[in-house]
Amino acid sequence: MGKILIKNIKGLVQFGEDLPKLRKGNEMKELPILPNAFLALEDGVIVAYGEMKDWGGITDWRDLEVIDAEGKYVMPAFCDSHTHTVFAKSREEEFVDRINGLSYEEIALRGGGIVNSAKRLQEMSEDELFEIAKVRVERLMSYGTGALEIKSGYGLTVDAELKMLRVVKRLKNEMPVAIKSTFLGAHAFPPEYKENHRGYIDLIINEMIPAIEKEQLADYIDVFCERNYFNVEEMAEILEAGIKIGLKPKVHVNQFSAMGGVKKAVELGALSVDHMEELCDEDVLALKNSSTMPTLLPSCSHFLSIPFGDARKMIDNELPVCLASDFNPGSTPSGNLGFVWSLACVKMKMTPEEALNALTINAAYAMDLSDSHGTISLGKRTPILITKEIPNLAYIPYAFGDQHIERILV
Ligand code: NIG
Ligand code: FE
Repeated sequence: MGKILIKNIKGLVQFGEDLPKLRKGNEMKELPILPNAFLALEDGVIVAYGEMKDWGGITDWRDLEVIDAEGKYVMPAFCDSHTHTVFAKSREEEFVDRINGLSYEEIALRGGGIVNSAKRLQEMSEDELFEIAKVRVERLMSYGTGALEIKSGYGLTVDAELKMLRVVKRLKNEMPVAIKSTFLGAHAFPPEYKENHRGYIDLIINEMIPAIEKEQLADYIDVFCERNYFNVEEMAEILEAGIKIGLKPKVHVNQFSAMGGVKKAVELGALSVDHMEELCDEDVLALKNSSTMPTLLPSCSHFLSIPFGDARKMIDNELPVCLASDFNPGSTPSGNLGFVWSLACVKMKMTPEEALNALTINAAYAMDLSDSHGTISLGKRTPILITKEIPNLAYIPYAFGDQHIERILV
C-alpha cells in the first residue's frame, strides 16, 4: 500500500486518542470531527493526522500517494457485525409470497425460509460458494464496509455447516478486510429433525462443535432463539457447548417475541444480542451494567415490515447501540450500511451522529475489533472511507439510496 497522504479534508470524522471502547447513552451523541484536516497512512497504519495548518509538509516523496479530499469527509470504514454473506441463492419467490399476503413465519412453517436456503447450499460446491461470496464481499466493501462478521447456518448438516465455515475461513485469508466467523448451526431445525429436536441439538453438540474446534473454524457461536426455532433452554445448552471450546456467544434474539433469551445470553457473557425488534423492561435491566452490545438490524425490519428496534429506549436507559446489516437472502437482501444509517435516523430517530457511532466504534466492539477498527487513532489499521463532495455529514443518511462513498482504502 505504501504511503498515503490525504489532505484538505473537509472533516476528519471519529478521530482521537485514548477513546473509549464504546459509546453508550448520552455519549452516543458525541462524534469528534476535525475540520480542514490531513491524515497520513503508512502501509495501512495511521501515522499522523491533524489540522492542515499544522501539517509539516512533505520531506520524503518516495512512494507517496497524495489524495486531495477538498469538500470530502474522511472516516473509519463501517464495521458490519452481523451478516449471513455466504449463501447459495436469493429467494425472490418468498418476497412475492409475502407481497401476496403470507408472513415470513408462515413461509418458514411451509418449508421455505432458512430450510429452503439450506437445501440449495447443501447442493453447491465449496468452490462455487466461495466465488459468489467473494463477489458479495467486494460489493459490501464498495458501500463502505471495512470489516464484517459472517455466520454459518444455511448448512444444517455436519458437512454443509463445515463447508460454509471453510468458505468463511478462505474469505478471511483472501479478502483485504477483517472477517469474523460465527457458527450458527442452531439457525433452524432441519426437516428430518422436526419431531426430534433433541437429535439435532445432539448433532450440533457432539459432532459439529468438536469438528469446528479441530479445524479452528469459528470465533463465535450463535443460536436463533425464537418461537418455532430454539427455546431459551436449548439456546443455553448450545451456547455452553460453544463456550467450552472458546467461542463467545453472539445471538439472534427477540426478532418476533421476547422469550427471556436476552437475559440468558447476557448471563452467558454474550458479546452481542442481535435483532431486538421486541424489547421488554426485563431485557433493558439485564443489559444495564453488562458488557453485551445490543445490535439492531433496521434493514430487516424494513424488508419484513416488522417493528424497528427501540433505539431511543436503549439510549435513554444509558445502553450502547450497534447497527448492522443482517445481509441474507431471506430477511435482508441488502448489505448496504449507508441505507442502514438512513433507516436508523428516519425510522428509529437516531441522530446521524448516534447512528455513525453505532456503525463504527460500537460495531467494532461487537466483533472484538476495537484495537484496530472503528476510530481514526494513531497506530490503528482501520480501513478508511473517503466520501464524495457533500455539504455535511448528515447529508449521507438524508440523501438515502445514493452512493456517497467515493473510495475505501484497505
Ligand atoms: O437474521 N432470523 C434468523 N435468521 C436470519 C434470516 C434467515 C433467512 O430468512 O434466511 C435473520 O433475519
Ligand atoms: Fe441474522
